[in-house]
Amino acid sequence: MPNWSRFLIAVAVLFFLGSSIARSADAPAEQVLIGSLDAFKPAGTAVEKAGRFNVVAVEGQKFEQAVQAETIGSPENRWDVMLQAPLPVALAKGDTLVGRFWVRTVDAMADDGMIGLAVELNHEPWTKLGEGQYNAPRQWTQIQLPFVVDQPYEASSLNVNLRLGYPSQKLEIGGVQLVKMPADVRADSLPRTVVSYRGMEPDATWRREALDRIERNRKADLHIVVRDASGKPAAGQAVHVKMTKLAFAIGTAVDAKLMLADNDSSAKYRAHVESSYNTVVYENDLKWPSLAADPNRYSLVDQTLPWFAERDIAVRGHVLVWPASKWLPPAVAAMKNDPPAMRQAIADHITQLVTRYKGRLVEWDVLNEPFNHRELEELFGRDAYVEWFKLARAADPNARLFINDFGILETGNRLQTDHQKFYEELIADLIARGAPIDGIGIQGHFGSAVTDPEKMLAILDRFAKFGKPIRITELDVNMLDPQQRANFLRDVMLVCFSHPSVDGVVQWGFWEGRHWLPGAALYSRNWDLRPHGEAFKSLVSQWTTDVTVLTGPDGSAGVRGYVGDYLLTVGDVKKPMTLTSKGGQVEMELKQ
Ligand code: XIL
Repeated sequence: MPNWSRFLIAVAVLFFLGSSIARSADAPAEQVLIGSLDAFKPAGTAVEKAGRFNVVAVEGQKFEQAVQAETIGSPENRWDVMLQAPLPVALAKGDTLVGRFWVRTVDAMADDGMIGLAVELNHEPWTKLGEGQYNAPRQWTQIQLPFVVDQPYEASSLNVNLRLGYPSQKLEIGGVQLVKMPADVRADSLPRTVVSYRGMEPDATWRREALDRIERNRKADLHIVVRDASGKPAAGQAVHVKMTKLAFAIGTAVDAKLMLADNDSSAKYRAHVESSYNTVVYENDLKWPSLAADPNRYSLVDQTLPWFAERDIAVRGHVLVWPASKWLPPAVAAMKNDPPAMRQAIADHITQLVTRYKGRLVEWDVLNEPFNHRELEELFGRDAYVEWFKLARAADPNARLFINDFGILETGNRLQTDHQKFYEELIADLIARGAPIDGIGIQGHFGSAVTDPEKMLAILDRFAKFGKPIRITELDVNMLDPQQRANFLRDVMLVCFSHPSVDGVVQWGFWEGRHWLPGAALYSRNWDLRPHGEAFKSLVSQWTTDVTVLTGPDGSAGVRGYVGDYLLTVGDVKKPMTLTSKGGQVEMELKQ
């Protein structure tokens, strides 16, 4: 290159630098809280066994060194192998921070490795300020996670964790920074890397297989024959085939009082229930402590039941026994010193409540969260559990009886947790003891941990071996990243709809104004539909059949439709029918 052109480039670079310095002189610059990899140390319970770290030189990037981080084997948790930096400074509510690093995969079992970033409290309850999980491509890629601090944190109370506990991979990480942005910078205006999980991609193998299973198991062939008034096949007739109710349950928890109130929010609340669900469950109204504290709850529930019945919305009952003092009415919890009296009170409660709602509720959660709450098991033994199922059966032989627990699907990618094992063994034990269990409830309260779709399918397979329907009873997705919430909610729904043993998914509420985890609500308080609400609606809107077909010369027509209830219309003849997974035949006769 001739000298003069080098000179020109140098001038241009100087000019550029000069102008950017001038700009940054009047705008406050970002403040670097953590500026290099030196701040990070290996950490995590499996790090000695499964983590190997080396510093390597890097060329052609904005940083000269990287850590090569190898994970050996398959650690149980993403946080079992980490690079961790303590954050020495305090943070104030409203501070906008950005975590950034560069990463590339050098070697991995799957196509790409994975890496997580979490800025969290360094002790229980490990509150997350910012969290994301990312694909690490083969090329150097910058990951950026902006987040806003939601409350003050003391100096040295937080950690910045690079999570590396993903199966057999070798990554390189460089250019790590945690910075605080100037006060006028909004987090949502900053670049943000899409958070990911294995199987999030549109053409993932599990997804193709799931869609195939849906086509095979959730749809069936409907054969229609139309005859004229004299009984002859009627050709060329347009038959409108409309699904009125999907057999697979799509449900939500509801609040009886809100269902009944006469105001704008309640009207919107009812409209969403009516348009989006075929199943509901009372979030709190039928819990024993609620009923004991306020007998008016019965009347609230009773007033809402006709509304659901008119719309053919099935109602589940939640919950007969939640076996902890905390979830018993205080007067019953106080009977601890008189176990026979307490056992009798529980038996009476089951009989009375199930009898009261006999024929009106289609199913009951008989036993809730037995892994975390063992007080009653310790007092009475497992035969009491069996007795409770039998009492419920006797009170309403047509109600399906469920056992229900959390910590099954929402355990990240762990396939052998204590919670899962306990639940599996308990179900087997209760069935062996003769408990009339009709279905297995899996709650599904997802916090920050993503369970990869393939892993969820494996967990469902494990619980499918009992040969009973599985119901996701309390789904909510409460991840920090809105886009991930949307992708993950969509994929949980898809996983469940595709699994032949799952017969429905019930969400644990949908409106921020009435949600135990407001961030997980599909609608904001002002009734804006959040991205995961849109993902839910757009997915579920595909699971319907609404077509018009023409009969052939033999008067027949065929439709492959979703399994469920239908209304068929030809001319002014209407015929309701149910399409089961075995397929259906229907004959319609035209009027004169
Ligand atoms: C929760 C409700 O959503 C809250 O409003 C209430 O304060 C506590 O209970 N597992 C269950 C549900 O089985 O009954 C719980 O519901 C959420 C966890």
